[in-house]
Amino acid sequence: MINITIDGRPLRVDPGSTILDAARAAGITIPTLCHLPQHAPTSCLVCVVRVNNSPRLVPSCATKVTDGMSIESDSPDVHLARRTALELLLSDHAGDCLAPCQLVCPAHMHIDRMLHLIATENFAEAIAVVKQHIPLPAVLGRICPDLCEKNCRRSHHGGAVSICRLKRFVADHDLASPSPYQPAKAPATGKRIAIIGAGPAGLSAAYYLLIAGHDVTIFDQHDQPGGALRYAIDADHLPRAVLDQEISQITKLGLHFVGNARLGDSLSITKLHQDFDATILALGPVDPAFAQSLGLALAHKGLKINPATGETSAPRVFATGAAVTPYRLAVRAVADGHTLAQQVHAFLTHTAAADKRAGRFSVRLNVLDPQEMAAVLALASDAPRSQPATSFTRDEAVAEAQRCVSCGCASANDCDLRRYAATYHADPHHFRGQRRQLAPAAHAGNVIFEPGKCIACGRCVALTANHGPAQTYLHRGFDMRIAPTFDATFADAVATRAAEVVAACPTAAIRWS
Ligand code: SF4
Ligand code: SF4
Ligand code: SF4
Ligand code: FES
Repeated sequence: MINITIDGRPLRVDPGSTILDAARAAGITIPTLCHLPQHAPTSCLVCVVRVNNSPRLVPSCATKVTDGMSIESDSPDVHLARRTALELLLSDHAGDCLAPCQLVCPAHMHIDRMLHLIATENFAEAIAVVKQHIPLPAVLGRICPDLCEKNCRRSHHGGAVSICRLKRFVADHDLASPSPYQPAKAPATGKRIAIIGAGPAGLSAAYYLLIAGHDVTIFDQHDQPGGALRYAIDADHLPRAVLDQEISQITKLGLHFVGNARLGDSLSITKLHQDFDATILALGPVDPAFAQSLGLALAHKGLKINPATGETSAPRVFATGAAVTPYRLAVRAVADGHTLAQQVHAFLTHTAAADKRAGRFSVRLNVLDPQEMAAVLALASDAPRSQPATSFTRDEAVAEAQRCVSCGCASANDCDLRRYAATYHADPHHFRGQRRQLAPAAHAGNVIFEPGKCIACGRCVALTANHGPAQTYLHRGFDMRIAPTFDATFADAVATRAAEVVAACPTAAIRWS
């Protein structure tokens, strides 16, 4: 055994091991994209580290340890080098992690997933997907300004997909069913939360906190919940029966509602502090004098909060929605309520809140050239946009959803390239140049190969070598591509090792269909 240090930690390691092996054995994480045990390394260079203060960084997967070696794996310059390596890989990569419509939806709904489920008549799963981000879809399906549709890739190809009406269809279909969708609830946490304000932000926060197992009471100055949805939007746009039905789905999760309760009158922050573990202010726009009377600090537009936690200047008092940032869109209030629910849950359970930025990281194809667009459109319905004045019928909804060309990446949550790019703050457009062309996908049974998403890591080449037809490197320099060997198809190349190749591919280039 020999002695080394990694990030100042003394370690005794096998002299034959690489720096990467030694780090992994010690539980130190170093990212890798091309390394495969028992195979020759290639050159993604995301695994670089600094050794003995040398000005040159080395790939940890290909560098053997030596006695007395001092290794830095987590310093700012190592991070910068990894970021550059990732940006170079992304500069020759064609894909959208997230669909253009999802990127502009304030609630960040998985629109392409919802549309695929409607297109395949799986309405029960479609409503579950919608409610992961929007607890009031029948309401928003009637009043949302369709921001997502303005960014739809089909906008100039028969018209944007009618996303908002389809969301409304799937929500109405669910509410009309004998047992509308109810999400599974986590076991009770024993934590009590007060929410002041039963408008869209407060109701949204309540929904996600109830699912997380908390006991939630919502107070409102009016005698019924709904806030601006009930008292500021006319009933022609938003029938009260729809609002009531959708709120009752939240109430069924165990929500307690207390009407005619106004902060400052019957309710005081001191009393709420005694009775609840956390208090959420979802009051709508706040008058500065009122905020000061409650002892809360103000920012220039609303209540001052710590953006990382949602907490106001008062401990255990949180704020969301128009109380923090005045705006008029209900979908933004719903999105903010959801974010705050995650932050309050993290606060009460002493866990880390989900990293919103990482979840929203996306490389983007932006504009497709005519040839690429024609290939994409060939996979979807060529019917023009249909937008009924009120509701879709079932058949109309299915037909309209089939117009979606499914822009997002099917493996966005299981892609090492995306995960590392988000972790190291890589800018996918840092190295601008001519983008790689979208090439048609190849299929081998239930395995798909999308060449545009391949970063030439070489893992599939190594795994299929010596097994007859194989994946190989074609061309040289900038034109180098991974493809099946001459005269073989992708199906031939991965025939005997499909599961291993899918598991090894660090992007969505080779994946299950
Ligand atoms: S392969 Fe990864 S990085 Fe590329 S589009 Fe898909 S999720 Fe994004
Ligand atoms: S085609 Fe589908 S996935 Fe693409 S932007 Fe439009 S709705 Fe979204
Ligand atoms: S297709 Fe092969 S070479 Fe390309 S990223 Fe996947 S495993 Fe690596
Ligand atoms: S060079 Fe080490 S993992 Fe790619």
